[in-house]
Amino acid sequence: MKFHVLTLFPEMITRGLTSGIMGRALEKGLIQLNAVNIRDYTQERHGKVDDYPYGGGAGMLMQAQPIYEAYEAVTGGKAVRTVYLTPQGERFTQQKAAELAEEEELILLCGHYEGIDERVLEEIVTDYISIGDYVLTGGELAGMVMIDAIARLVPGVLGNEDSSQEESFFNDLLEYPQYSRPEVWRGKAVPEVLLSGDHRQIRAWRLERSKERTALRRPDLYGKYQARQLAVKQLASDKRNNIHMMESLSRGRGEILYTNIWAGGENMALYDHDSGICMLTAEDPKEGELMAGILPEGGELAVISQPFLEEILGKRGYRPILRCRQALYTQRNPLPVRHKDIRRLSMDSLEYVCGHYCPDQGPEKADCEPGVDREYIRQRITAGAMYGIFLEGKLAGFGGIHREGSFGMLYVEEDSRRIGAGASLEAYIINRMLEKGWTPYCHIFEDNQASLRLQEKLGLYFASKTFLWMKKSTCK
Ligand code: ADE
Repeated sequence: MKFHVLTLFPEMITRGLTSGIMGRALEKGLIQLNAVNIRDYTQERHGKVDDYPYGGGAGMLMQAQPIYEAYEAVTGGKAVRTVYLTPQGERFTQQKAAELAEEEELILLCGHYEGIDERVLEEIVTDYISIGDYVLTGGELAGMVMIDAIARLVPGVLGNEDSSQEESFFNDLLEYPQYSRPEVWRGKAVPEVLLSGDHRQIRAWRLERSKERTALRRPDLYGKYQARQLAVKQLASDKRNNIHMMESLSRGRGEILYTNIWAGGENMALYDHDSGICMLTAEDPKEGELMAGILPEGGELAVISQPFLEEILGKRGYRPILRCRQALYTQRNPLPVRHKDIRRLSMDSLEYVCGHYCPDQGPEKADCEPGVDREYIRQRITAGAMYGIFLEGKLAGFGGIHREGSFGMLYVEEDSRRIGAGASLEAYIINRMLEKGWTPYCHIFEDNQASLRLQEKLGLYFASKTFLWMKKSTCK
């Protein structure tokens, strides 16, 4: 991932980010840092980049011209997401870091003086971000905070094999306390359970400590956690039909827009900000209308499981794109994997995956899942969520985990289909999801008999309802 920082103090950025974990990530080429001195682009003979504000007022403003030219030099006409660091921006969160970590390149614009000429901001900025409700002397420190938080999510940067992006750290709980050697320090012993070797007990203990700590230190977060947990519990009365919402909530992704589930009802509208997916379940058309009316602008896709919602969302510009069966794996024990050479895919395999999976981008016009295109595949690879099966050392198929949490995108080459390669790949992905404490589930096109049979063979259960994916049409 490449960070471009437009700044008046490039050395502040390069000095601040060249040691420790960031330094190593830079050396390894996992991230790249391009600190651009805005002053190099001024047309003023004396290197001036600021001037007085029209209408009067204290201080100086950074002028539009040098910033715009620095920006143009970096992008060369390409569309690159551009963040302006400002206390007036949206608050930076872990969720935002994860979203931005999926970009290939990112521009961070650091302001100084009393601000920047509005016209250049209108021209180039895609996101206004603040790191907190306080005012710094410039955007550089804020930019460095953002780079650190985003870069640690890039696969390989933290040095562990597992992608930190796929871990459930958005579930509104703070981390549990940790201990290292010695076993007793100043009379204080390490909690016994941590020495037991019983990983199930350790997990349970850690969860309890996380909850206690969150309730005490961040009651605001704890309230959110409790509300989610309660909703998950209610939805569990019909797990097969609700697993998509349960997983979205328990992984801390879906925001509840509307529900009466806490009062024993069955209405719920969830929105996953990152993927722009809305998930709706409604008791009757009246409730459906209500929910459809509050869906956010950014909601590109909707998943529904009551037929009457199709017409309701249709009136709001959503078009049906595919009908699926939902299947879930309810056991806790991992599945056997026959073909063992399965690995996380790197960007080297982007062409292979797109060639076989995205319509109009490869020889095989395979069915395409909603929202799956080249950019989506690139993001899934970046997130460490695509896996490939290698037969005799050669890539023969792939599968992955979608943004919203289901698994899918399964493809196996024609001549490897009857030897259990698909089953191995899916079993492997299911096992990875189990390790993370997730309930693996997937959506299968209604008419994909081979895939439906595979789910049965692997012991997945089907939901009774049919699931319909709808996409907001931009055409009038
Ligand atoms: N620039 C000045 N203060 C800032 C803040 N709190 N967040 C982001 N950028 C800033």
